Amino acid sequence: MSNWIEVGKLEDIPRLGSRVVKMGDIEIAIFRTDKDETFAVANKCPHKGGPLADGIVHGNSVTCPLHNWTIDLESGEAKAPDKGCARGFEVKVESGVIFLQQ
Ligand code: FES
Repeated sequence: MSNWIEVGKLEDIPRLGSRVVKMGDIEIAIFRTDKDETFAVANKCPHKGGPLADGIVHGNSVTCPLHNWTIDLESGEAKAPDKGCARGFEVKVESGVIFLQQ
C-alpha cells in the first residue's frame, strides 16, 4: 500500500528552485520546474555525492553544482557521456500540497 507523506507547499519552492527534506537518513531534493512540475531525487549526485538541490534547474534536468553533470529529474539518470543514477522518489501535488511516497 502506498504511504504518502506531506512535505510542504508547492508555493514555498520557487520556480527552478528546490527544497531538501529528510526521510529517515536520506536527504531528498524536491525540484520545481518552470512549468510547475515537481520531481524528487536523492540529494546526492551519482558522481561524487554533490548536493543536487544546490544545482541549476533547466527543463526537467538539474546540473550538479560540483562538476556540472546533468541529471535527468524524471529518471535520475546522468546524461551522456556521464553514467550514473540518482535514486528517484514518487512525488505528487494535490491542492498545492506536496506529498512524497515513503
Ligand atoms: S559530484 Fe556532481 S558532478 Fe561531480
